[in-house]
Amino acid sequence: MNDALNNILYRNSHRSLTEPAPTEKEMGLVFQAALRAPDHAWLRPSSFIEIQGDGLKKLSNAFVSYAKENIKDLDEEKLKKYEQSPFRAPMIVVLVCTPKEHAMVPEVEQIMSTATAGQNILLALNSMGYGGIWRTGAFSFNEKIGRYLELDHDQKVVGYLYIGTPEGKAKKIPELNILDFVTKWES
Ligand SMILES: Cc1cc2nc3c(=O)[nH]c(=O)nc-3n(C[C@H](O)[C@H](O)[C@H](O)COP(=O)(O)O)c2cc1C
Repeated sequence: MNDALNNILYRNSHRSLTEPAPTEKEMGLVFQAALRAPDHAWLRPSSFIEIQGDGLKKLSNAFVSYAKENIKDLDEEKLKKYEQSPFRAPMIVVLVCTPKEHAMVPEVEQIMSTATAGQNILLALNSMGYGGIWRTGAFSFNEKIGRYLELDHDQKVVGYLYIGTPEGKAKKIPELNILDFVTKWES
């Protein structure tokens, strides 16, 4: 099997991620890979916030402010969990979509383009020996979170990629039978 296919088939989302995070040079390639996502009419709807170091504390503060002002039935335990969540990896990349007005390209296509950019990031990282996991939870896909991340009102948070060096045993990849997922039309 060739290396590219091997990278796709055996990419795995790692929950436990530690230092080191990818270097600036490596992230340059990772973002180039992200920007090769399919993009109808080349509208370039995707952008990324790379967060590490003190930036993780800034993200934690944003999560806490958002939670206090927007989440109902918030208790101390939940608030603590939200406060701690950015520190589960040494780096986070926020996937942002800024849908553009276009006669042929609806918003949903542009959000899908950003999602495929996310997958390109995970694959590029995997090819370099790093791990990532895509998380959404309470802090994605809502009208208000963008303001807490210093985004404009028309920018959407599509997800958070937690990134670092995988720690511990990789989880087993389930074996799936393609016959359960694929139908063929041949005549
Ligand atoms: C849009 C999207 C949102 C996700 N949100 C979460 C999440 O909030 N928390 C979580 O544990 N996994 C989440 N996942 C799933 C993991 O990223 C991962 O895909 C899953 O654990 C399966 O592992 P695998 O990617 O190695 O097959 C999300 C996946 C996608 C595509």
